[in-house]
Amino acid sequence: MIRDLILKNRSYRRFYQEVDIKRDTLRELVDLARLSGSARNAQPLKYILSCEPQRNSLIFPHLAWAGYINGWSGPCEGEKPSAYIIIIGDTEIRQSFSCDHGIAAQSIMLGATEKGLGGCIIASIEKEGLRKALKIPPQYEILLVLALGKPKETVVIEKVGSNGDIKYWRDSKGVHHVPKRSLDDIIIG
Ligand SMILES: Cc1cc2nc3c(=O)[nH]c(=O)nc-3n(C[C@H](O)[C@H](O)[C@H](O)COP(=O)(O)O)c2cc1C
Repeated sequence: MIRDLILKNRSYRRFYQEVDIKRDTLRELVDLARLSGSARNAQPLKYILSCEPQRNSLIFPHLAWAGYINGWSGPCEGEKPSAYIIIIGDTEIRQSFSCDHGIAAQSIMLGATEKGLGGCIIASIEKEGLRKALKIPPQYEILLVLALGKPKETVVIEKVGSNGDIKYWRDSKGVHHVPKRSLDDIIIG
């Protein structure tokens, strides 16, 4: 089952924007992150939730989408995420956040997948702009934005070819292809 969930948990970047995600759903997802591991059990991560169109519109301009897809600057109106979970680190608890935010992000994305949602972990963030837009105090380091919605695109996994190219691509039908290295290529001993 975990394999099925992980296979289904692809990065989606186009959504049925009209499908709402309730704040309670976002809270349930953050609860999965809360229950996940944390270096030294310090639990320095905090979260900002957004599921209203007006607040969502403050977040979207500060995100960069699918750098390998030339000429596409992100989802158009109608296909934007319905919600966001912003993962921030509380520097009054710790100065560095180890890989806590990666683990938290994966827990949230798997939970979202189980609920029939999908999304994209975004690290390419124009952080100072986002900080200003949401009035995030300096005490908090912006770490990741999780964009969430009901996916409106098909994503398929491919084998990395003999040229070793790992860049994802979109075909003429809009299907998104993601090359993954083989197991034998990544287990080195
Ligand atoms: C830590 C992290 C940061 C990422 N940042 C971005 C990003 O800024 N913008 C984006 O469009 N995708 C981002 N992604 C999504 C990756 O591009 C995606 O995981 C990769 O292409 C593999 O596709 P898959 O998630 O469907 O396996 C990020 C993923 C991770 C794990």
